Amino acid sequence: MSVHKKDIKKITTHQLQEMKNRGEKISMLTAYDFSMARILDQAGIDILLVGDSASNVMAGHETTLPITLDQMIYHAASVVRGVDRAFVVVDLPFGSYQGDSSEALRSAIRIMKESGAHAVKIEGGKEIEDSVKRILSAGIPIMGHLGLTPQSIYKFGTYSVRAKEEEEANKLVSDAKLLEELGCFSIVLEKIPAALAQKVAEKVSIPIIGIGAGGGVDGQVLVVQDMLGMNKEFKPKFLRRYADLDQVITDAVVGFVNDVKASDFPNESESY
Ligand code: KIV
Repeated sequence: MSVHKKDIKKITTHQLQEMKNRGEKISMLTAYDFSMARILDQAGIDILLVGDSASNVMAGHETTLPITLDQMIYHAASVVRGVDRAFVVVDLPFGSYQGDSSEALRSAIRIMKESGAHAVKIEGGKEIEDSVKRILSAGIPIMGHLGLTPQSIYKFGTYSVRAKEEEEANKLVSDAKLLEELGCFSIVLEKIPAALAQKVAEKVSIPIIGIGAGGGVDGQVLVVQDMLGMNKEFKPKFLRRYADLDQVITDAVVGFVNDVKASDFPNESESY
């Protein structure tokens, strides 16, 4: 039986909150293009994140810093066109919100208007309070991001686990409470001790989505190319691989090259 688009129940912030309330875990993956977004959406993913990890994964940069607002909008609009059900969140890229809150609002409005996405994600806590307030005041839902915030990589110096010390852990808990009070609908916690992440998920009522933050939170996010095994070199402890697409793609391409060289492709049934 085919499902008509109008019968598909779209995921909303309200539904995500209900999922936390009833203890149903939330699934989230990154997506940066139409064809991948369509597959992930049809497979039943709850949230698609157009992450600024596109800077690494799609463009081959070492960090997330170089990607621009225009490039994020291009990726986001492509993802939105592939989605019928999932909730689409887009990262505000480095340099598009740190200047002042009016710039943050302008950037968030551009993302929503030009891509058709459903929410933005923004890294940081107390230091971006004004921007968070301003964006929320325009009716744009915000997902926070605390812990290892890759846009601050040059401040941290490494991609190692954050908030292991009491001072940083206390700031993280108070930032999470602040983001909730301000009205964010959810928070990503990246690469922090599992016990701390669980404590945050218990202390705030909004959904907490973890990456490298253990199983005591309300949902999990991974970069899709990592979980599909397209990036063999990247093997952090938190990553579970669900496929070996590097091998699958390599085998397919080797097969194609061999068939072309041997004049085996195309055959008669593949010709007009
Ligand atoms: O940009 C991204 O992919 C992210 C996730 C790792 C949460 O922010």
